[in-house]
Amino acid sequence: MMHLFVAVIFVALPLFPVDANAFTKTDFPPHFLFGASTSAYQVEGAADQDGRKPSIWDTYAHAGNGGAYQGNGDIACDQYHKYKDDVKLMAKMGLDAYRFSISWSRLIPDGIGPINPKGLEYYNNLIDELTSQGIQPHVTLNHWDLPQTLEDEYEGWISRRIIKDFTAYADVCFREFGDRVKHWTTVNEGNMCSMMGYDVGAVQPQRCSPSSIFNCSKGNSSTEPYLVTHHMLLAHASAANLYRNKYKVKQQGFIGFNILVQGYLPLTNTSEDVIATKRAQDFFVGWYLNPFIFGDYPAIMKKNVGSRLPFFTSTESNLVKGSIDFIGINFYYAFHVKNSPGSLQIKNRDFVADMGVELIYIPQNISLHEEIPITPWILERMLYSLKKEYGNFPIYIHENGQLLPSKSLDDRPRVEYIREYIGSLPNMLRNGLDIRGYFVWSFLDVFELQSGYEASFGLYYIDFQDPTLRRQPKLSALWYSNFLNNKTAMK
Ligand code: NOJ
Repeated sequence: MMHLFVAVIFVALPLFPVDANAFTKTDFPPHFLFGASTSAYQVEGAADQDGRKPSIWDTYAHAGNGGAYQGNGDIACDQYHKYKDDVKLMAKMGLDAYRFSISWSRLIPDGIGPINPKGLEYYNNLIDELTSQGIQPHVTLNHWDLPQTLEDEYEGWISRRIIKDFTAYADVCFREFGDRVKHWTTVNEGNMCSMMGYDVGAVQPQRCSPSSIFNCSKGNSSTEPYLVTHHMLLAHASAANLYRNKYKVKQQGFIGFNILVQGYLPLTNTSEDVIATKRAQDFFVGWYLNPFIFGDYPAIMKKNVGSRLPFFTSTESNLVKGSIDFIGINFYYAFHVKNSPGSLQIKNRDFVADMGVELIYIPQNISLHEEIPITPWILERMLYSLKKEYGNFPIYIHENGQLLPSKSLDDRPRVEYIREYIGSLPNMLRNGLDIRGYFVWSFLDVFELQSGYEASFGLYYIDFQDPTLRRQPKLSALWYSNFLNNKTAMK
């Protein structure tokens, strides 16, 4: 019945008008990849099955997550059991690549120590299923879900001990899956994890300072976001170094890191706001790209954060510098930036105060109930600005998509969103940006980071009350599939 409904809308709506701005898949270089993304905790389910142990995300979701939303990832989309059907849908859709993450605590339940044979079997099966369908696996090693044992043992990313343990985990992944996986991303949204988990305290492991509205029981936001990022950079560099020395010759793969890039535009054209905009970019993006490209943090961060900013020894600096083969970028929305020098006077400053800016969402306030404004031109501006500063490094757009209440198959605003972003890419490529691929977030309706099952980004609808968890294509799935399969001109 529902399929019929979709078919009727599909035929009736002018989704594919051909006009002067039309674009097709043939406007892209032949090797350009189109994919869709998910992450382990958000889709797998089977949270306590076959030897998996909890991650910090399980703990956070089960503790009621500060009341932000209901639910948890215990069952989620049950991709653990339904991966074969999902891969069939991906193949039918025409995806070149699927970006997913490995649950560290499924593969190595305590973070260190013995490998879980069932976890190994699951990821081998998923990867085999993908490659047998000609779909490239693009694998993230850590997507907001650190093993809880490591959090309990030494407070996870806050401790330097994570560098060794992360490298050992990466070693297992490279050794077991690297014959088929050629694109590895060590950490997803390092900058957001550090900010949201250790400064704002809005998500796992919910650490912040007493002044935060999120009422965390632990944390020190003056230092921890910086420590966490420092350890992520070093853990990444250590894993990349291991890959290059031990596996690269044989496996011929690539290692990257993923960050959220927010669009930043000066609120006014005063020099204060223009400088503040550059400062926001340095703090949020340069925090990672500066070490990866130049081996150190941006000068303005050193100045504003002072001794609270960890430093790289020259050995570490050399290890981090050049340790990425590509950068994964998640892009959703943009801000106007207003200079806010007063925050630099605050005692016990945190990351946001150190930045000395006020960020004003474009157009107004962030709300789960409003569509994300469509601003591909701001993405384009950001990428040119990063290219100017850091050179023309290879980019995968790892996430981009529209959040909507997850109940409707008629998701025209999402069609419009992804169509506008995909349609803006050929121009960026012609202008020399080295973008290698584009992934929609998300392939399915998933257990969302900040909205649970209430609002979602999926191309496929799932009714989470229905025990079958049937996947139903939304209009966006049909649009994307048509673009990928039929090369129909559309804009
Ligand atoms: C960021 C994260 O990588 C992902 O886990 C999240 O669900 C989406 N973007 C949407 O918020």
